[in-house]
Amino acid sequence: MTFEHVDSTSLEIPAAPFSDPSIIPQFPKGKVPRHIGVIMDGNGRWAQQRGLVRTQGHQAAEPVVFDIIAGAIEAGVRYLSLYTFSTENWRRSPSEVRFLMGFSRDIIRRRVAQMDAWGVRVRWAGRRPKLWKSVIDELESAMERTKHNTVIDVVFCINYGGRAELADAAAAIANEVRDGKVSGDRVTEKMIADHLYNPDIPNCDLVIRTSGERRVSNFLSWEAAYAELDFVPELFPDCGRTVLWRSIDDYVHRDRRFGGVKK
Ligand code: IPE
Ligand code: IPE
Ligand code: MG
Repeated sequence: MTFEHVDSTSLEIPAAPFSDPSIIPQFPKGKVPRHIGVIMDGNGRWAQQRGLVRTQGHQAAEPVVFDIIAGAIEAGVRYLSLYTFSTENWRRSPSEVRFLMGFSRDIIRRRVAQMDAWGVRVRWAGRRPKLWKSVIDELESAMERTKHNTVIDVVFCINYGGRAELADAAAAIANEVRDGKVSGDRVTEKMIADHLYNPDIPNCDLVIRTSGERRVSNFLSWEAAYAELDFVPELFPDCGRTVLWRSIDDYVHRDRRFGGVKK
C-alpha cells in the first residue's frame, strides 16, 4: 500500500487537522492495533544533518507529534503511547535536559485546547521524583481538562522507564504485603498489571521506533511484552501520519500467535 504525502506542517493550524477522507487508508475491520507505542527517535541526528543544534531537532518534532496523533485518530487507534523523555535521558547535558523539560511543559500547555477539541484524553506515564513540578502541573491540568474525552487516549511517557514502572509496582505490592492486605506468595501477573502507572490501558500491540535504531530502550517493558515491533528508517522530524499508517498496514498483515498454534 502506498499513501499520499500529507504535509505535517499543516497541523500547526488547529482548525484543519484532518485528512481528506479519500486518502485515509481503510484497514480491515477489527485489525487496527488498539494500542500503539512510538519511540520518537532521531531528533538530534536530524538537526545535526542540517548544521543545527540538537534542540532545533526537538522543536521540529512538535508538529510531527500532532500529525501522528491526528493520523492515529483517523486510523481508529484507541491508545497511543509517546516516548517523550526516558528515565535514562537525564544523562544528557544539563542544557538539553532543561530544554526538554521546558519544551514538554510548553507543548502540553500550547496544545491542550487542540487535543481537547480532537477528543484526546491526555494521560501521563512516568515517575514523579526528579521530574519538573511545572511539567507535572501542566500534565495534571491537561488530564483533568480532557478526562471525559473518548476518541483516543494519548499517553505522554515522561520520566518513564519500563524497569522503573515495574520497580514501582513491586514496591507498591510490597507495601500491601507489609500491611497484611495480600500474602507475599500470592503475587500474580494480574496484581503487577494492576499496579502499573495506568492499569486501565490495555497491552501495547505495536511499537514503532523511528530513526533506524533497533532496540526498545526501556519502553513499555510489561505492556509491550508481546507487541509487534516495527523499526522504521525515518528520523522522527521527517515522520508524520503516513509513516504511522504504513506501520499499521504492515501490522494488519502479521500473524500474532501468542505462543499458540495458528488455527
Ligand atoms: C529523540 O531524539 C528525542 C528524545 C529522546 C527526547 P534524540 O534526541 O534521541 O535524537 P538522536 O537519537 O540523538 O538523533
Ligand atoms: C529513547 O530514545 C527515549 C525516547 C525516545 C524518549 P534514546 O535516544 O534516549 O535511546 P537510546 O539512547 O538510543 O537507547
Ligand atoms: Mg536517540
